[in-house]
This record gives sequence, structure tokens and C-alpha cells, in this order.
Amino acid sequence: MERFRIAIIGAGKMGITHCGALMEQDAVRVVAAGDPDTKKLRVLAEGPWPSIEYYDDDFQRLYRVENLSINTGEILASPDVDAVVVSTPNASHYEIVRAALANGKHVLVEKPMTVTYEQARQVVEIAEINNLVFSVGQCWRFHPEVEYVRNVVGSGLIGEIVKVKGYGIHESWMPESSWFVKREFAGGGALIDMGIHPIDTMRYVLDAPGFSHVHAEMLTRYGPYDVEDIGTALLTMDEGGFAQIEFGWANVHSDGVESSLQIFGTKGYVRLFPTTVKYAVSGTRGEFLPSEKHNYLTKELYSAQASHFVECLQKREQGINSAEDNLETIKLIDALYRSSSEKRLVSLGEYEDGGGK
Ligand SMILES: NC(=O)c1ccc[n+]([C@@H]2O[C@H](COP(=O)([O-])OP(=O)(O)OC[C@H]3O[C@@H](n4cnc5c(N)ncnc54)[C@H](O)[C@@H]3O)[C@@H](O)[C@H]2O)c1
Repeated sequence: MERFRIAIIGAGKMGITHCGALMEQDAVRVVAAGDPDTKKLRVLAEGPWPSIEYYDDDFQRLYRVENLSINTGEILASPDVDAVVVSTPNASHYEIVRAALANGKHVLVEKPMTVTYEQARQVVEIAEINNLVFSVGQCWRFHPEVEYVRNVVGSGLIGEIVKVKGYGIHESWMPESSWFVKREFAGGGALIDMGIHPIDTMRYVLDAPGFSHVHAEMLTRYGPYDVEDIGTALLTMDEGGFAQIEFGWANVHSDGVESSLQIFGTKGYVRLFPTTVKYAVSGTRGEFLPSEKHNYLTKELYSAQASHFVECLQKREQGINSAEDNLETIKLIDALYRSSSEKRLVSLGEYEDGGGK
């Protein structure tokens, strides 16, 4: 069996989670990990891993990354690496992904693919020219209940979609010293970190609807950050429906887990996390409650994502989380930031003919 030689770039929380998920795959050897922080590399080598609840001591003793390096550039250029997983702070994704693709490596990059639409457009083009698999870690796409909701919508059971409500909200996350709250490293705040999940999931379950224009309101009220920590986005679909997405880091709310999606159709309603569907049948009301309680960020999500990436490498095809598709998610994020900073409604038509710059 062909075994793909994969390197992890960024050995923090998500890098180690990806590392474990990939090591579980028979067709993978995790051959290298690169991070300028030697302490992070030491944790990867010696443990305990921050994702210890997913990968216990026995697993960590059994599997070891062969080459740990502070020289990320060397790993990206190495002929002994077939693919890389990029799990570094958001703003660094563009340069690292660009170098990896230019060196002929397949890529799985954590969300957000890049922090601007123009950067995303450029890296997707390089992947296309070099015929490389390029995936984005929008992990919700691998949740069985997301697939269930997608099938409900696709079957027409709830009719035409008229409204979507989504949220990506941490209840009490106050990361005062973290890179997540610094624009220079994160490229944005709660929208690009949390709001991106329901936006991308909405695009997935509605099968890539077009959007005509967007409006966003954002504030910084919970900490001394130079990025937003609370906001609301309104997105209008080409077909006339609309979506309202809330995002935040420290907004206590009583409505389910940290991220959710509710889809209102002309004949019914489907909700993700906790997943419920309600619809009318011949004038009576049908109802199906497949599950009650969820932890949406389960180990299984990352394992399914890693397995799908390997399948894409084997078949040399783009997956359900392709960067090409994700370009539209990044376009919406970019347009929402444009709306907030310029205090106006933004038409997605502005992105045509190089207008995304
Ligand atoms: N999909 C999810 O569920 C999920 C959850 C959390 C974070 N994320 C995303 O994963 C990415 C990483 O987040 P994290 O929580 O693991 O952060 P983290 O701070 O735990 O880890 C980031 C690591 O990258 C390293 N790094 C910084 N610059 C680098 C460079 N130029 N080259 C190599 N390594 C570099 C840092 O030293 C650090 O070890 C972010 O893009 C974030 O948005 C995704």
C-alpha cells in the first residue's frame, strides 16, 4: 500500500490533533513536524499532548513523529514529504500554503484557508496549476448530523429555504494573551474564528447557494482586543432567502452548544445541534428527533477529516472540503469585514473581475 508522507506545520493544539488523526490512518506516515517554538515541538515529542482526551499515553508511546524541526521552510521544500497539514495562526496560512503548493505538496489547511479573499484566490490557483489536492479543515462537514441535515434539505422535505439562523459562539472564552485576539496574527476576530463555522456549514447543507449582498455589525466589548468579539451578519441569497449569523467569544447563551444552524423552509424546519426536524405531512405535523445532546467537536470529526484527506490523496481528487469550494466561504467572510469597516451593504458583485483586492 502506498503510504503518504505527511508533515505537520504548527505543532499547537490543532497540529497535535491532526497528527493523532493522521497517525491512525494506515496509508500515512507522519514524517515531520515544524514549529519555531521548541517548547511546542518538545510537547509533541514527549507529551502530554493538549488533545490528550483524544490520544492517550499509550497512543503517544506507540506513535512518534520522525523529524521535528524549527525550520519550517526546509520541511516545505523536502522531497521526502508528499503533503502538509497547516495548523498555524490564521495570518500565516497564506505564505505557508503558498510555499507548500509551489513545492508540489498537497495541503490540508486549518480554517480559515487565508484571511483575505485575494490570498485565497491566489493559493487555489496555484493548487489548480500544480494539480494538487487542497483541502480546508472545515471540520463540521464531517459530522454525521451535518450530513443528515444536508440530506433533509436536499430531499425537499422542508420545501424552499426562506431563512437560516446560525451561530458560532463561545460562552466564556477570554483569551487575553492569545494570538487569536491580535489582528496581526488572526486576521480578524470572532467572525473569522467562530462565525466561519456556521457560514461554511450553511453553504454545505444548502449545496452552495449564491449570495447577492451582505451586511455585518461588529463590536469589541469583552476584552482589550483589536478585533471584534461579538457580531451579527445578514446575508441575502440569490434565490431570495436570507441568513442571519451570530458570532462571539464570551456571550452566554442558552441555546445549545457553541455552534448551531436552524433552517426554515416553506414546508418545515430543520435544526443542527441539537438536531431536530419538523415538517407538515398532508396537513398534519410530522416530527422526528434523531438525537438530544451533542458534543460537536468530537475526535471522530478529525478522524473522518483525516481519512477523507487520505482518500483524496489516493484518488487524486478534491474532497467535500475542497479549497475551491471554500473560496466562496472566504469571499463571504471578506465581504462581511468590508461591510463592517466601511459601514455599508456590500454586494458580492464587487468581487467580480478582480474586485476582491
Ligand atoms: N477546526 C477546528 O476545530 C479548530 C479549532 C481551533 C483552532 N483551529 C484553527 O487551527 C489553527 C491553529 O490553531 P491552534 O488552536 O492549534 O493554535 P496554537 O496556538 O495552539 O498553535 C499554533 C502553532 O503554530 C506555531 N507557529 C506559529 N507560526 C508558525 C510558522 N510560521 N510556522 C510553523 N509554526 C508556526 C506556533 O508556535 C504554535 O505552536 C488556526 O488557524 C485556528 O483557526 C481550528
